[in-house]
Amino acid sequence: MADQETLSHEAALLPKTVRESASEMIELVLPNDANPLGNLLGGRLMHWIDLAGALAAHRHSRAHVVTASIDHLDFVTPVHVGDMVILQSSVNRAFHTSMEVGVRAIVENYISGTHRHVSSAYLTFVAVDKSGRRIQVPPLTPETEEEKRRYEDAGHRREIRRAERERKQRNSNGSL
Ligand SMILES: CC(C)(COP(=O)(O)OP(=O)(O)OC[C@H]1O[C@@H](n2cnc3c(N)ncnc32)[C@H](O)[C@@H]1OP(=O)(O)O)[C@@H](O)C(=O)NCCC(=O)NCCS
Repeated sequence: MADQETLSHEAALLPKTVRESASEMIELVLPNDANPLGNLLGGRLMHWIDLAGALAAHRHSRAHVVTASIDHLDFVTPVHVGDMVILQSSVNRAFHTSMEVGVRAIVENYISGTHRHVSSAYLTFVAVDKSGRRIQVPPLTPETEEEKRRYEDAGHRREIRRAERERKQRNSNGSL
């Protein structure tokens, strides 16, 4: 069993395209997801964004993943009970053990068929084995111009995140 898992992970280290792991998750907003005004709770949407992002990360890495970070999140427009929330996720770039995944949440009015943008986020997932040890992920091969732009941008964002972590680390060391 362990050998099978090792072999399948080696096979999973071959380069992959964005299309191979792009995912979509659909949630219908129910009263339990909403505040007393019938608006979707921000925390519930964050949970769905995390899950939708993990789907693409799992598919790209064919491994267990943990969420390392979620970048800045805006809630652009309210979502109501009865709305259909569509969460689209795709890997923007894979590094060594981590992957940046972009998630876009839209609301579809299933009567008119129209869509509204609700929120977008960048998440970083780290692939781990069953013992929680970090493992390598396969490289991502961007194909379209849009994918290539996202790939480049993800590299810049990674540097910004790294600098921010180092700044926080220095601050927390200084406050000891
Ligand atoms: C995320 C985690 C695995 C990173 O482990 P670590 O030993 O601190 O790792 P390192 O600093 O050596 O970095 C490992 C990788 O994670 C990335 N990383 C670490 N912290 C990150 C962060 N806050 N944001 C984005 N990427 C991050 C690094 O860039 C590196 O990527 P690479 O291997 O592709 O180059 C670890 O912090 C962890 O397990 N956190 C808890 C995860 C969790 O429980 N998530 C659920 C949310 S409650």
